[in-house]
Amino acid sequence: MKAVILSGGSGQRLAPLTHTTTKQLLPIANKPTLFHILDLIKEETPIKEVAIVVSEDYGHQVKEKITNSEYNGYFKFDFVFQDKPLGLAHAVQITSMHIGYDPFLMFLGDILIDKGELKKAYEMFVKNKPETLVLVKEIDDPRPYGIAEVEDGKVTKLVEKPQNPKSNLCLSGIYFFQSSIFYAIANIKPSYRGELEITDAIDFQISLNKIVEPYVIKSWWFDIGTPENMLKGNEVILNNLPASVNSKLDSSVKITGKVVIEQHVIIEDSEITGPVIIARNSYIKGCKIGPYVSLGENVYLQNTKIENSIIRENTKIKDFSGTISDSVIGRNAEFSFGTNGKSKTKLVIGDETKCILL
Ligand code: G1P
Repeated sequence: MKAVILSGGSGQRLAPLTHTTTKQLLPIANKPTLFHILDLIKEETPIKEVAIVVSEDYGHQVKEKITNSEYNGYFKFDFVFQDKPLGLAHAVQITSMHIGYDPFLMFLGDILIDKGELKKAYEMFVKNKPETLVLVKEIDDPRPYGIAEVEDGKVTKLVEKPQNPKSNLCLSGIYFFQSSIFYAIANIKPSYRGELEITDAIDFQISLNKIVEPYVIKSWWFDIGTPENMLKGNEVILNNLPASVNSKLDSSVKITGKVVIEQHVIIEDSEITGPVIIARNSYIKGCKIGPYVSLGENVYLQNTKIENSIIRENTKIKDFSGTISDSVIGRNAEFSFGTNGKSKTKLVIGDETKCILL
């Protein structure tokens, strides 16, 4: 079996972070979502060959990041450039040379899911051999998603972004296909939004009486398409990281809860309340950090309080007078300001942004 991971898309709801990094590479607990997905595929399936569909604008960034990663070697990667965003089914269609006649897993590159679910879904697909298996998740309002209508354990209809959903099972963005999906894709027309929808291709299979089965995800699942969802993902992944402290800390540092501190981190006169991850070479002085904070490499923080936030590498924050909360801050940013001492500030700040009190 092979895998196709879709790593295109503009990520508009994550602007300005996505003006410089494609959303699949944005870090969640200091690791790109794409790498969390590769971890799952490695641990929970026997798949060794992965085709990654990338866009023209960010494709080389994704290719470089993966080529220089520990995954290169374990997996054999093919990078397939999609020159226009013509839909998920189109993205699958252009991988047909790489997939051939094998069954395959399709994973949208902006999805995070708890451990164990992919393994169970894979086992169900291999055992039952349906034409397609869709992983679905019960949610309160599925209108922004595709939905699956299910009867007697089989999918009877799929609808993309329904106004009046007849089911609350949303399509999670993870699918297992037999290679016959390429035939279905060849038989559909672009939707009202001008895209070849994978939902329509699977619906075409159902119209031919092919078996499409649902696998219902029991545990957590998110798409990381908004800063709020990135932070939800950050929270659940930090909750599951094993604690480890790899830098020497003195008695001026108070640590409670579970923390991951990498090498060459200096912390002075600060309180760290886990779950928190602090990447190598960071410097923290006079701060309150946590819970649910991820700090990238070489972050510099002084006299600042931060909770429930992601701060990317090389960013410097000094003398922030309120609390930075529910925030996602890009690389190489630098600021030193704040509100009055008591209030919380939510920030979504792009790479290189500077805002310094003189
Ligand atoms: C896509 C799929 C949709 C699915 C969703 C999951 O939507 O078309 O069926 O529910 O991913 O995140 P999009 O993210 O393109 O709006």
